[in-house]
Amino acid sequence: MNNLFRRKPIDQLISDVHGNGQGELRRVLTGRNLVMLGVGAIVGAGIFVLSGQVAAMYSGPAILLSFIISGIACAFAGLCYAEFASMIPISGSAYTYAYATLGELVAWIIGWDITLEYLFAGSAISVGWSGYMVSFLHDFGIDIPAALTASTGTHLIHLPVEGWRELTPSIEDLIASQGLDINTFEQTTAIVNLPAVAIITILMVMLIIGVRESATFNAAMVIVKVSAILLFAIVGFAFIKVENWQPFIPENTGSFGEYGWSGIFRGAAVIFFAYIGFDAVSTAAQETRQPSRDLPVGILGSLGVATVLYILVAMVLTGIVSYRFLNVADPIAVAVDAMGEKMFWLRPVIKLAAVAGITSGALVMLMAQPRIFFTMSKDGLLPPILSRVHHRFKTPYVSTIVICILAAIIAGTFSIGMLSELISVGTLLAFCIVCGGVLILRKTEPDAPRPFRVPWVPAIPILGIVICFGQMLFLTKATWIRLIIWMLVGFIIYFGYGRKHSKLNNRPQ
Ligand code: ALA
Repeated sequence: MNNLFRRKPIDQLISDVHGNGQGELRRVLTGRNLVMLGVGAIVGAGIFVLSGQVAAMYSGPAILLSFIISGIACAFAGLCYAEFASMIPISGSAYTYAYATLGELVAWIIGWDITLEYLFAGSAISVGWSGYMVSFLHDFGIDIPAALTASTGTHLIHLPVEGWRELTPSIEDLIASQGLDINTFEQTTAIVNLPAVAIITILMVMLIIGVRESATFNAAMVIVKVSAILLFAIVGFAFIKVENWQPFIPENTGSFGEYGWSGIFRGAAVIFFAYIGFDAVSTAAQETRQPSRDLPVGILGSLGVATVLYILVAMVLTGIVSYRFLNVADPIAVAVDAMGEKMFWLRPVIKLAAVAGITSGALVMLMAQPRIFFTMSKDGLLPPILSRVHHRFKTPYVSTIVICILAAIIAGTFSIGMLSELISVGTLLAFCIVCGGVLILRKTEPDAPRPFRVPWVPAIPILGIVICFGQMLFLTKATWIRLIIWMLVGFIIYFGYGRKHSKLNNRPQ
């Protein structure tokens, strides 16, 4: 029983990495690279796609408050991540931190939980990418067959102006209200989201070839998307109609989570997805030049940049278009349309930037997850083949291939709405554990060197736990059930394989 709580000593964690020059990753990333990496991971499908849906369905213009609540939760968790990452500067992120503080079982739980986050986020972001890409190509007269552009089983209908859309009850009502027969419209059932599968395949090849090349590509993409968002916010400011902000908090419909204050909190929990990614910075610790300085800069810097951008976009988006009309795959493009004919040039610019920006998000997620598997496999909790490093490119190529194939299957089959809620609940749970880990480590290892210390301990970690767990409570039951199923699968793998093969198990005490 005791061995479920065996901990990996911090000095051993670090010496495991430096122990034998074999299988080491290249140290090429700087603090600036990490901020870029963080912004690359954070800003993506969340702001470009989900922001409109959350405003339309849960928060209204008060999505601004949802963003602030979620941002605060992330700042607290981010500070805790930074302390851990500077203390234990090796790949594996919260998984590694938990191994050092809370024992092997909790480490496994969190590693498996983070797998849910990164793997599914890689998929969800690629689905968002597919939406903007299909829409961008459509503007240029290139149409991919509709059955190959959405999650398996999605019922699609062709509308005269909007083109192919998912057939939702509100669209059925709209058609019926105009006295039209739904059967006169072309309809199809989607087989697979092919563009999403294609982008994951391309990214897989890039990730195998090398992390430095990927970081350069990422930096270029980040500049493009941040510029596009700033352009949208600055140009859009002049088109804000104050009446669109009224009512700022739409009245609750009577259902929990639909507008009103419960809607603001559910909105915060769902839009939390938009902040996910800053933690991915810590997984690059082994490839960072000076982790103790660069990691806190990377984590907090990227979170700060994203928060400012999101607040601007939330204000401008809901100020230009009434929140009621934002439940679409490309809400920012809809807002640009609403600026009128003169601003038409901005439409392809925004779509292209969204495509580029979302690509870099998927890249970082798909880069982070194989590194978690890499570390778990080095610890013996997963089969050794997953920590194989490519002899020429020095990248964890086997785990990259495994993760990308899984991500492609998930992206081809599921919708972004379902995936993003699952990712939010899993990540919030991981954040609670990280905040708890900081508290425990301050007690169990008070003298360990901490190049970065969380201020106001225990207040900040405790508030982090309260806000993150509080947000989880606002998500739906179906999401909780999916989380529980995922965790059960994890337990089966741990008790069936990891516990027996753990390196700590086979080491003399
Ligand atoms: N934060 C990431 C995004 O919004 C997951 O795309």
